[in-house]
Amino acid sequence: MNTEITIIRPDDWHLHLRDGKMLAAVLPYTAKIYGRAIVMPNLMPPITSVNEAEEYRRRIIAARPEGSNFEPLMTCYLTDATDPEDIRAACAVKAFHAVKLFPAGATTNSDNGVTSIKNVYPVLEVMQELGIPLSVHGEVVDPEVDIFDREAVFIEKVLIPLRKDFPELKIIFEHLTCKKAVDYVLDQDEFTVATITPHHLVLTRNDLFKGGMNPYMYCLPVAKTFEDRKALREAATSGNEKFFLGTDSAPHACKNKEKEGAFAGIFNAPTSIGYVTQVFERCGELPRLEGFTSIFGARFYGLSPNGSTITLTKRDEPVSMNWLFKAGEDEVKIFNPDTPLYWELVD
Ligand code: DOR
Ligand code: ZN
Repeated sequence: MNTEITIIRPDDWHLHLRDGKMLAAVLPYTAKIYGRAIVMPNLMPPITSVNEAEEYRRRIIAARPEGSNFEPLMTCYLTDATDPEDIRAACAVKAFHAVKLFPAGATTNSDNGVTSIKNVYPVLEVMQELGIPLSVHGEVVDPEVDIFDREAVFIEKVLIPLRKDFPELKIIFEHLTCKKAVDYVLDQDEFTVATITPHHLVLTRNDLFKGGMNPYMYCLPVAKTFEDRKALREAATSGNEKFFLGTDSAPHACKNKEKEGAFAGIFNAPTSIGYVTQVFERCGELPRLEGFTSIFGARFYGLSPNGSTITLTKRDEPVSMNWLFKAGEDEVKIFNPDTPLYWELVD
């Protein structure tokens, strides 16, 4: 039985770091585990220019713990008003590793997002030409669509037509949550890849309601059925390089989680790699862990894997930690679902 594993240091291909005191409080958790991360641009106001991205990058670097080499990889928030020539100029100085599509109103801080995909066609034209990837939050916002179907409907209504019009645009379908999305990605060529989160590998929608409504299990896209989770586990552990880890770790103050209109987002950075390792172990696929966490994403983004390693061990007793911590005056809760966690980072 495997009780210890050493892998190339992972990267997080989808991360929310926020800013200010929250950034300072959450960054050490990520920097301890991950070599690099694709940093989401949905600040308020969002990161929409090279200058804003560069300043934000500097603030992240300044917030790193002593001795950390963690490298933030910046992204640009796509709006209806994004100028294709700005993206071309940004590309020339390698300012962005991806451009993020949030359908307006789909999730946290997405109010400035895209209201119709056709509005950004000139930008996508340039991105396809230059090979810069589009990172996609794949949900429709139509209030008539069942919230559990939003991802599946997005594939039909947005992704399939988009792919037809831009056959060589690099697309990262972020945080997959349903079997339909897994099957869609499997069906595509190398221009379409996907990230999968630790929490969608662990949760189903039951967890949102187990023992009473639980906002700490609420994120968008929302967790789905057992069958969907099974498809996600199979995709993640399949060794197919189209699928790689993006934690979507998304911290919110407890006061914003524990209220009417609780914010969407799960702060999983501290337990992320442990849960992913545990899922791979339980699926009997530990040898495939490293590809998913440390190799496939880097390959897609045209980067080399990290030069160092991490080691995880399996404990006899569940991992325990202070599940609450302070970010300035606020408190934040760490992802701690019903399923006990046995794997932890030791080195
Ligand atoms: O649950 C989510 N939280 N989903 C997202 O897409 C955004 C994120 C956030 O920024 O809090
Ligand atoms: Zn996200």
